Amino acid sequence: MVSQQKHILTDARASCSAAAAWMANLLQTALELAPLAKLAVSGGRTPGEMFDSLAVNGDVDWQRVHLFFVDERAVPPDHEQSNYGMTLKRLIEPAGIPTANVHRIQGEATPHDSARRYIHDIRSFFDGPAEELPRFDVIQLGVGEDGHTASLFPGEPYIDNRESVAAAVYSATAAQWRITLLPGVILAAKSLVVLACGAEKAEPLWQAWHGELNPLKCPAQLIAREAENVDWFLDEAAAARLISGA
Ligand code: 6PG
Repeated sequence: MVSQQKHILTDARASCSAAAAWMANLLQTALELAPLAKLAVSGGRTPGEMFDSLAVNGDVDWQRVHLFFVDERAVPPDHEQSNYGMTLKRLIEPAGIPTANVHRIQGEATPHDSARRYIHDIRSFFDGPAEELPRFDVIQLGVGEDGHTASLFPGEPYIDNRESVAAAVYSATAAQWRITLLPGVILAAKSLVVLACGAEKAEPLWQAWHGELNPLKCPAQLIAREAENVDWFLDEAAAARLISGA
């Protein structure tokens, strides 16, 4: 049964707080059913405030949560654009997530080596049959102004890949190499949480939901049209076109 829920909050702060509470609940539910929970988070500007809230949510037993990354820029961990670097400051350290639970993408390596190492890390941790894709309990995603999600940018042929775990991709938009989870793993997640705030997300969100079906042009359609269990946390500015229907 497909569940696509939009949670529209007044502003970014309220959206981040609501998304954090939702993710904490998902993680604790996962921990009621299994010894460990597997979470993958995205980077960018939006999640920082959500991480601040999640880190201080007293309900999550972080000793039992393994943290992965949806994507990473091909930069060292101390680089200002490192998703790991931002997450270390805003979630890992404040929440006290054990280092052994953090599965960093080695952005300092060459992109294809970094992808190979990350795939090996994921495969080793999930320890399932090679023909099965790892199933994360929670994957948190954002949406870019151009409709990208993860590091699947418009025109990225990997948008059609449903078999592989992750890959190195070059983004002309971002003018940098990225390492990203691929659609099959994203869609296999038990729960997806999408956080998007700001007026600049109104158009890509409308395209994701109501635009002509073309995920190669609008990768966020992968989530809006194909995913089965998604909660979208949007502020009113980002949801403006969805609300007005214009
Ligand atoms: C990244 C993210 C990316 C992000 C969107 C939205 O590495 O940049 O994983 O997919 O979610 O670009 O980013 P903002 O929150 O900065 O708008």
